[in-house]
Amino acid sequence: MEERLLAIREAGFNTFLLKADDVFLDMLTDSGVNAMTVEQLAGMVSAQDAYAGSNTYEELARAVEEVLGFKYTLPVHQGRAAEHLIARTLVRQGSFVVTNFHFTTTRAHVELAGGVLVELPIPEALDASSEHPFKGNMDTVRLEEFLARNHERTAFVRVEALANLLGGQPVSMENIKLVKEICERYGVPLVIDGSMIDWNSYFVKERELGSWPLGKIIKEFASHADVFYMSARKAGSVRGGLLATNNRELYEKIAVLLPVFEGFLSYGGMSVKEIAALAMGLRQLTEEELIGSEIELIRYGVRELDKAGVPVVKPPGGLGIHVDALKFLENVPRNRYPAGALTAAFYIASGIRGMERGAISNDRLPDGREEYPALELMRLAFPRKTYLRSHVEYLVDRLVWLYENRDVVKGLEWVYEPPVLRFFLGRLRDV
Ligand code: F0G
Repeated sequence: MEERLLAIREAGFNTFLLKADDVFLDMLTDSGVNAMTVEQLAGMVSAQDAYAGSNTYEELARAVEEVLGFKYTLPVHQGRAAEHLIARTLVRQGSFVVTNFHFTTTRAHVELAGGVLVELPIPEALDASSEHPFKGNMDTVRLEEFLARNHERTAFVRVEALANLLGGQPVSMENIKLVKEICERYGVPLVIDGSMIDWNSYFVKERELGSWPLGKIIKEFASHADVFYMSARKAGSVRGGLLATNNRELYEKIAVLLPVFEGFLSYGGMSVKEIAALAMGLRQLTEEELIGSEIELIRYGVRELDKAGVPVVKPPGGLGIHVDALKFLENVPRNRYPAGALTAAFYIASGIRGMERGAISNDRLPDGREEYPALELMRLAFPRKTYLRSHVEYLVDRLVWLYENRDVVKGLEWVYEPPVLRFFLGRLRDV
């Protein structure tokens, strides 16, 4: 513990700035750290490393068409690169982008392009203890009202399938279908962020369409998108990303930007080896026995923590175990960043590196005021095919211990606060 205290001080109480060597279980993210399957690794060996016209790109485009149903595929260097190109193509000064819930990089790109992000989650989404089975759903009543008044100024509607910052909560098939109908009525394109489409589909199968094979769920869900994009670092289990559409005109508009910002059309900033692994990763999204074991581990952990009285987001979602820092550290005021303080304290207590997903992850308003988000969470992510039940048992043991000793945690204050996406590089100290 003494060594970890020194390490987290050195890192400005920001787990992004810890050295991986100082971490025991790395639960910072599921991004770019999933285990690859043997089939993905094998694909990398036989990739055709050509700058242009590579048949490995053709294989990716075939996998996208067969699994997701899109004719046109553009590889990009990661998910936020797709967000950049979409925002640059569709957003104008003062445009609205309506979403079920923002992701940090999405908001940054919409705002950098001059747009205003409008969040329309269902009310249950912001209640950490609500057991609604699809807390990632968009509020379609408010969407209809909003578009009736503002459709001309709305660049696109964006649905994040498995809403990250709500605690990995899924979107139902019924909801995406309704959202699409409303978008069509008002002539507004629908963009789907499918970075975690694997876990979202697992929940749809479990809670809504039990008899459908996963492959059918994924394709049907994606079919509602005018533009589909994903960080391939997550469900794709590689590094990179992609953007796909059936709309030729949109494809052409975005494609001209690709060589400027990413790379040529057939690699878009990815290595050809990872394009091969992504093609296989996409095909394996439909393999029922491969998808969802992390969800079962998350569920086990949440159940055990809940039994011990530790406040956790329920129902357990995908992505990770999310701890409600407002309830965990009731005596730490919001301007002392309970989720940041909890994440640092939990690292000291356990060697487990989680991520702050609360006020620190939310930049200030343009006038410098804090905008405290409804959810103030510590996220303990489960990279795919990586952790076992014994790891969860250790996590639960240490977190219950910290809960019993929570009075030692007092909060954090800024030492260095970057102007945008401050959670990545910001430094704090304990008060
Ligand atoms: N969209 C979603 C839903 C994401 O979860 C992420 C990344 C991105 C877009 C951006 O993709 O990192 O490849 O540029 N999520 C990671 C996380 C960073 O830890 O949750 P990227």
